[in-house]
Amino acid sequence: FHVSMDASEADKGTYPHYMLKEIDDQPTVMRKLAQTYFNDDGQVTIDDELLADLQSADRLYIVAAGTSYHAGLVGERLFERLAAVPTEAHVSSEFAYNSPILSKHPFFIFLSQSGETADSREVLTEVNAKGYHSLTITNVQNSTLSREATYTMLLNAGPEIAVASTKAYTAQIAVEAIIAKALGEATQQVAAADFDLRPQLGLVANGIQALVDQKERFEAVAKDNFVDQRDAFYIGRGIDYAVSLEASLKLKEITYIHSEGVAAGELKHGPIALIESGTPVIGIITQERTASLTRSNLAETAARGSHIMTIVTKSLAKAHDDIILEDVDEMLTPLLTIIPAQLISYYTSLLKGLDVDKPRNLAKSVTVQ
Ligand code: AGP
Repeated sequence: FHVSMDASEADKGTYPHYMLKEIDDQPTVMRKLAQTYFNDDGQVTIDDELLADLQSADRLYIVAAGTSYHAGLVGERLFERLAAVPTEAHVSSEFAYNSPILSKHPFFIFLSQSGETADSREVLTEVNAKGYHSLTITNVQNSTLSREATYTMLLNAGPEIAVASTKAYTAQIAVEAIIAKALGEATQQVAAADFDLRPQLGLVANGIQALVDQKERFEAVAKDNFVDQRDAFYIGRGIDYAVSLEASLKLKEITYIHSEGVAAGELKHGPIALIESGTPVIGIITQERTASLTRSNLAETAARGSHIMTIVTKSLAKAHDDIILEDVDEMLTPLLTIIPAQLISYYTSLLKGLDVDKPRNLAKSVTVQ
């Protein structure tokens, strides 16, 4: 079943901006997804035919644009670790004209909040012409990508109005985790059986709530460290790198500050040349294996005058860390690490007097190629 939304949910109510409301909606969205895709016994449930189709695939191709592509980068890791199926995330505008050599039995997953992104539609048309099967994960029932794909799974996130995508990103990652668990269980993967996703989504919802309850703090960070900056960098490794890309996109699209998400190990291969006195460098640290490496990379930028900040899970936190997150499964940390970045971007845009919900030059959904 799916939980439907009524028209009032498109209303921003007492919120000054849709973006802030949509950031605050995220704990509810996580709980709703836990209701929608799990049965009363706590078993993950997705469509049987979809599951069979996924099982017969030898490789998954995730195709998306912008924030949805960034959710796909997290999905790549979820599918490989939980379901042990090779997975590639691709930018749709690139895939349409530079497609890789496909595996023997490919299956396509289209991620799109709106279900209308032209570049993704172009790829789906080609996929259908070749007779391959596909799934669209979208927030909009009956959208073009939904109608044209073999299967649809809904994000059930309620309308997302702000141009900067927030709750669709976290909902997409949660749905990818749901599918990866279902697929991994169907193929007897120990990692999937051990992954306690339903209770974890509850922990995630609480962890997000704890962050959105600290708005003044993120407003202060925006005021003290971002508003007057020309450049800002988010860095991380592995899944934290994937989130760095999204955190950076959030900042640049609504604050017009030049920002890059950088694989922490790549800094010294070029980007560190851009560090000046006071440049914010935010390190995302949630993976035990790479935590100390990312900390060293942060220190290297600090030695060149950067202002470093850390977003860290509790179990890895040290006394001098800045933003400390509740512990959740290592594979679900993107659902928490992105929240401070969303809020810092929101307040920086607001403090700069910009149009938070409708930044210049951008459309909510890009329906031309
Ligand atoms: C996100 O903040 C952007 N506005 C943009 O990158 C967006 O995610 C992209 O255009 C994809 O849209 P879709 O999810 O509706 O396909």
